[in-house]
Amino acid sequence: MTLLEISDVRAGYDRTTVLHGVTVAVPKDGVAAVLGHNGAGKSTLLRAAMGLLKPTGGQVLLNGEDITRLSPHQRVARGMAYVPQGQQSFPHLTTAENLQLVADGRADGKEAVAEALDLFPALRELSSRRAGLLSGGQRQQLALARALVTRPSLLLLDEPTEGIQPSVVAEIEETILSLAARGGLSVLLVEQHVGFAMRAAERYFVLEAGRVTSSGAGGTGAEQTVREALSV
Ligand SMILES: Nc1ncnc2c1ncn2[C@@H]1O[C@H](COP(=O)(O)OP(=O)(O)O)[C@@H](O)[C@H]1O
Ligand SMILES: [Mg+2]
Repeated sequence: MTLLEISDVRAGYDRTTVLHGVTVAVPKDGVAAVLGHNGAGKSTLLRAAMGLLKPTGGQVLLNGEDITRLSPHQRVARGMAYVPQGQQSFPHLTTAENLQLVADGRADGKEAVAEALDLFPALRELSSRRAGLLSGGQRQQLALARALVTRPSLLLLDEPTEGIQPSVVAEIEETILSLAARGGLSVLLVEQHVGFAMRAAERYFVLEAGRVTSSGAGGTGAEQTVREALSV
């Protein structure tokens, strides 16, 4: 059963086409990983999936529904959440305020914030610290927590371990793996850490210059195949 189907999507910027007909499927309650070198089009793919970029061809289906023309806001309402590359939050707002901003206007906001903080207990102790003063790892945890406050059924994660010190990478890895194992959540994970991506993923897709050049079942058994496809 597929939750998100990105089908033959073409997209890019102005006159540059970056994605030349990309097809990627995310299994319901599972993790799909997209791997590829810098510039391959991974972030562009997530932007197209989230509706931040209009595809010039192809379709995006969520639970079988064609959402290609829906706005990002409408996709959030359908259970999608997106954590962009680079641990972005509002630097001048505190941890608590960053979470509250997402919770505002949601009937289940208070409960959802508490739940997100249960997953990242370290953030509780940092609730009054400005996001701009958090470490990279803490900011990534905050970005993940913010996404989870919307109680998504599909999480799009763009390189959650990028630029984070190794000790915290393991922690973030563990949280993502346990989230995925909990059920009720599917993840489209863009990662350059092949080991982590393959531990997490049920399906993998290697993206090169805007095309899927290799795909298959995930798991550590396929790690070597992926390393060879990426020449790493
Ligand atoms: N906002 C943008 N405007 C124009 N070109 C862009 C923009 N963002 C990315 N690109 C180009 O699109 C290509 C793919 O980029 P990106 O999707 O960020 O790759 P990845 O995430 O795999 O590193 C690159 O050639 C990059 O220079
Ligand atoms: Mg990127």
